[in-house]
Amino acid sequence: MPESEVDPSSAALAPGTLQRLRDLRSRYPVARSAVLPALWVVQDELGYLPPWSEEVVAEELGLLPGDVAAVASFYSMYFSHQAGRHFVQVCQNVSCALRGADDLLAGLREWLQAGEGGASPDGAFTLEGTVECLGACGGGPMMQVDRYSYEDLNVDSAREILERIRGSAGGGAGA
Ligand code: FES
Repeated sequence: MPESEVDPSSAALAPGTLQRLRDLRSRYPVARSAVLPALWVVQDELGYLPPWSEEVVAEELGLLPGDVAAVASFYSMYFSHQAGRHFVQVCQNVSCALRGADDLLAGLREWLQAGEGGASPDGAFTLEGTVECLGACGGGPMMQVDRYSYEDLNVDSAREILERIRGSAGGGAGA
């Protein structure tokens, strides 16, 4: 059965993930306000958002599947296909560009063996190199890994950070 035809009622989200979705629904007076955090909850578990998972979110929040799909497809931080476990973005906007963002991106791309937007061969990282300002202009060049920012980088310091994240017990950025 194609993935898009999976019955959402039979789809496997962990009980803890479903509970987090229900908690989110009760936290917001308007269900639509919970869509963004709900999509994060699912992507945190699955690594991406297959169509059936958007249907589960819609069901849990009492929305139409199209409402959730529209949000998921609008934002670049939500993945429709399996990606690396960690999402690496290197800012390319002016402040970072003036302080070496191009070299940082080129160095990481070569080290990770990943094309733009592509996952590293080991599946640990997906490198995105076309992002605009990520709000850390005073600390450029910078990268964001998942939801954590790292500033004043060069290729060596960025590699050290990514090695630490790859090797961390919890596998998470921010370590
Ligand atoms: S220009 Fe890079 S974070 Fe703002």
